[in-house]
Amino acid sequence: MFDRWLYVSTCQLAAGRLEDGVRDIVEVSVLRNRTLDVTGALLFTGQKFTQYIEGPPASIAALKQSICQDSRHSSITTLTYGPFDHRRFLGWSLAYAGPSRFVAAKVEDALNSAISGSEDKTESLAELLAGFVIDGHS
Ligand SMILES: Cc1cc2nc3c(=O)[nH]c(=O)nc-3n(C[C@H](O)[C@H](O)[C@H](O)COP(=O)(O)O)c2cc1C
Repeated sequence: MFDRWLYVSTCQLAAGRLEDGVRDIVEVSVLRNRTLDVTGALLFTGQKFTQYIEGPPASIAALKQSICQDSRHSSITTLTYGPFDHRRFLGWSLAYAGPSRFVAAKVEDALNSAISGSEDKTESLAELLAGFVIDGHS
């Protein structure tokens, strides 16, 4: 059994450092996630991050702790956290998708639904992330 964590957060990287800043995050994440047997996806809208990670419960708990303490983002809102029976991102230590207006609208939508307690949109956001894997980095 795996745990998975899906959240949305607000980027706090300086405007002139977005590209380098996100690249730094992805580089470290790919290596550490591989070590922790974690797979997942990170999507950046230009203002918000949304990330789905999955793996052994102890690994997800350790990563959640690091990620929640990271000052490069704020307002971390958990959409889903808990056990899940299969990996969605098998083979992807962290798929990454860059800024997109289409995605930004979906993230806002999912966030609003999560706040109002609608489970459907949370799943649809996870599926959206899965759809980006083809463009990501393994
Ligand atoms: C939006 C965002 C997503 C992140 N995702 C991951 C991740 O998937 N894996 C990871 O190891 N670190 C990730 N990090 C970086 C961690 O917060 C942390 O800096 C890194 O894991 C090193 O952890 P440590 O400082 O506790 O040693 C992310 C940071 C941000 C801001």
